[in-house]
Amino acid sequence: MSLTEPITIAGTAEQTDLQLRGDGGLRHLLTLQGLDRGQIAALLDDAESYLREPGEPVARSEALAGRTVANLFFEPSTRTRASFELAAKRLGADVLNLDVNTSSRKKGESILDTIYTLQAMETDVMVVRDAQAGVPAYIARHVNDTVSILNAGESDLSHPTQGLLDLLTIRRHKSSFDGLAVAIVGDIAHSRVARSAAEGLVTMGVEDLRLVSPPALTPDPGSVPPSAKVLHDLDDGVRGADVVMALRIQRERIANLDGIPGIDEYFASFGVNRERMKLAAPDAIVMHPGPMNRGIEIESTLADSAASVITEQVRNGVAVRMAVLASVVRSRAAR
Ligand code: CP
Repeated sequence: MSLTEPITIAGTAEQTDLQLRGDGGLRHLLTLQGLDRGQIAALLDDAESYLREPGEPVARSEALAGRTVANLFFEPSTRTRASFELAAKRLGADVLNLDVNTSSRKKGESILDTIYTLQAMETDVMVVRDAQAGVPAYIARHVNDTVSILNAGESDLSHPTQGLLDLLTIRRHKSSFDGLAVAIVGDIAHSRVARSAAEGLVTMGVEDLRLVSPPALTPDPGSVPPSAKVLHDLDDGVRGADVVMALRIQRERIANLDGIPGIDEYFASFGVNRERMKLAAPDAIVMHPGPMNRGIEIESTLADSAASVITEQVRNGVAVRMAVLASVVRSRAAR
């Protein structure tokens, strides 16, 4: 394959082909599309095994002893980058955090030459976040068989480990996905979190999935699961919901803010608050992937209330990333 080949967005079939080994084992994690209910449930079960009560010593293992994990974040991150680093260290790996701002990419080195450099240093897993759609699959096509690529956030397309940690958080609170009503609220159009969550929820059997956004932030119909409802009224979206997930406006991906309400208007129409949550199921949980803009997409006191599971999402993220790292390394060993 040519090194000057353009970066294109892989279809579901190609991504599935890339990310699964012949025996169904996970070689890369590029997307939740193409993973079946059993494969997702197995990752969630494995993640559960790494969870401990707050205050207890964290789970550790040597599953990645002798392995090297490189974090390559070409976009900002707090939660995902830190939790991949902790996850890899708790599994006994050597961890490299490439500082992109002081790397030779600033001198014009291509992304593939950067990848080949780290591959030559015997890196086993590369965790990649990039603003350009198609980058994780592009890298996965080029690395050799000893390297796994984990998508840590790809443009507005995909954030599969976020999707998994959201599923784990919902499962721990609701026991099952059967019969759940889930409302995802905010900038659906530009949200990779919404896409991965929606893909995972539909695969796990959620039939009442509501995507609630201002008209200017309506998702592209091709990105919406056929069974999901697209709504523009937050009260309708939240009514009877078991799970309400608020999203921030992805300003970094919006070239033209025309038609997007100002902050006060947005909070009044699309802010998830305690008053609106009275419309939801009595035991509804409130989620947010972070980073939060308190007072814009979510009321600050709601984010800190008993209904909020936002800090649990963060905690579950480390366990999910441990499960994914262990899975790709295990599948390589089983070849
Ligand atoms: N949820 C999420 O991806 O957060 P970070 O951008 O901080 O990693």
